[in-house]
Amino acid sequence: MKFFVDTADIADIKELSEAGLIDGVTTNPSLIMKANRPMTEIIADICKVTDGPVSAEVAATDAAEMIREGKVLAAIADNVCIKLPLTLDGLKACKHLTDEGHQTNVTLCFSATQALLAAKAGATYVSPFIGRLDDINIDGMQLIADIRRIFDNYEFDTQILAASIRTLNHVREAALIGADVATVPPATLRSLVKHPLTDKGLETFLADWKKTGQTI
Ligand code: G3P
Repeated sequence: MKFFVDTADIADIKELSEAGLIDGVTTNPSLIMKANRPMTEIIADICKVTDGPVSAEVAATDAAEMIREGKVLAAIADNVCIKLPLTLDGLKACKHLTDEGHQTNVTLCFSATQALLAAKAGATYVSPFIGRLDDINIDGMQLIADIRRIFDNYEFDTQILAASIRTLNHVREAALIGADVATVPPATLRSLVKHPLTDKGLETFLADWKKTGQTI
């Protein structure tokens, strides 16, 4: 499973990229707002610190404008992936932009039938939102499982980009189901490394090693 980091914070992206932990980046208008800088500058800077796909979301809601904005974003760098909302106009724009050779990420997906349409529109990625479904007591992981089964039934190339990830279990279950990518907030990504027994075991090893008086 590939890991993307879900942020527009350059410092986080740089650190995680240098650690070899991420295969790409996803942003959205809310994350761009938090970064409080011009979007084109942020996306350009992110594309310089990672070779992987960098999702940049259009703001328009009609297909023609989505296509125009998508091309503006794609012109920033070769690894820009154009992010489009899962609406009828978003699917139209997805088909057009994908047919022209651009990477596309259809986002705000909350049902398996929506994901099926995104695949038919040729989306490179579809982003089903796990956490936001859990927030309203609908099983977000079941959506990932349903999409995986449907995509496998018809051998769609569209990659499942598990999104709105809040916990380590979301990452674990998405991997068990076979999501192609998980996009994870920086703090959650860092927490994947941690386990109390690892820390405890290392502490014991170091204490015992010190007692040997040896050096390597
Ligand atoms: O960026 C797409 C998605 O990961 C956003 O998730 O946490 O805003 O529900 P969230």
